[in-house]
Amino acid sequence: MSRRQRIMTIPTACVIGWPIKHSRSPVIHRFWLRELGIMGDYVVQPVEPERATSFFARFAESGYVGANVTVPHKEVAYAAVTRREPAARAIGAVNTVWLEDGALVGSNTDAIGFLANLDQEASGWDRDAKSAVVLGAGGAARAIVWALTTRNIPAIHVVNRTASRAAALAERFGPTVKVAETEALPALLAEADVLINTTSLGMEGQPPLAIDLAPMRKTALVNDLVYVPLETPLLAAARARGLRPVDGLGMLLHQAVPGFEKWFGARPVVTPALRAAVLADLGQKA
Ligand code: ATR
Repeated sequence: MSRRQRIMTIPTACVIGWPIKHSRSPVIHRFWLRELGIMGDYVVQPVEPERATSFFARFAESGYVGANVTVPHKEVAYAAVTRREPAARAIGAVNTVWLEDGALVGSNTDAIGFLANLDQEASGWDRDAKSAVVLGAGGAARAIVWALTTRNIPAIHVVNRTASRAAALAERFGPTVKVAETEALPALLAEADVLINTTSLGMEGQPPLAIDLAPMRKTALVNDLVYVPLETPLLAAARARGLRPVDGLGMLLHQAVPGFEKWFGARPVVTPALRAAVLADLGQKA
C-alpha cells in the first residue's frame, strides 16, 4: 500500500513542520493508539515554508484527520484555519488542527498542556499564587503567560533578553503582565510562587540558564519547559534548594491530549508508562 492509500484507508494524523525529523509526537500518539486499541496512525509530514499556506488550504484533500503544527508553521496555520478556538485566538498561533464538516479548525493546546501538567504534578499550585516569573518572551512564553492569566494570578513578571518582546507580551495580555529587567530578578524571585523558563537556555547544546534561586521561598515551584535534558541545571538547582521542580516533558505529553481526542474520538491519559516510552525514545532515564 502506498503512503497515500494508507492515509486514505486508516485514520491518520500528522505533525507538520520544517525541519521535523526530531518530533516526539509520533511516539506519543502511536503509544495511545496501541494502548487504546484504535486502528489509526500518526506520521511525520515535512512541509517546506513556501508550501505551508497551500498545504493548509488543501488540507481536506490530504486525507489526514488532523495535524499538529510545529515550528515554523504555527502562525501560518493560524492564518489558514477557518475557525479558531479561544486559546488559539489569545495566543495568536495554532498547534493543532482538525476538520469539522470539511472546514479546518485550529486550537493551541500548549497552554492547556502546561496547566494540565502543573495540575497533575503539583496539585493546588495556583491556589493563593500571587506572583509568577516567566523567563523568555517568544512563542512558548505567549502560551504560558496566557495560561497564567486564565488562573487569575495577579502579577506575572516577564523577563527577556530582548525587552521589546516582553513589552509586546504585556501589551497583549493586559495589566497583570509586567515587564521586568534582569536586575530585578532577585527581588521578584523572593516574592514568586512560580518560576517558568520558556527560553532555550539549559537545552542540550545551549548555555545553561545563569540564575540564582537563593532568594526563592521553599514552597515555590520551578518549571522548565526544556526537556532535553530532563533534569536541566535549573531544575537540579531547584531540587538542591528544596523547591518544587517540574520538568518540561509533562507539558509535551499533556498538550497532545486534546488533538488525539479530536482525531481519534477517545480521550487518552498521561501515565508513567507513556513518560517512560518517550524518555526511552529520547535516550534518557526517568
Ligand atoms: P519559542 O517558540 O520556543 O519560545 P522563540 O520564539 O525563538 O522560541 O523564543 C526563544 C526565547 O528564548 C526568547 O525569549 C529568546 O530571547 P530573545 O527574545 O531575546 O531572543 C530566548 N533566548 C534564546 N537564546 C537566548 C540566550 N542565549 N540568552 C537569553 N535568552 C535567550
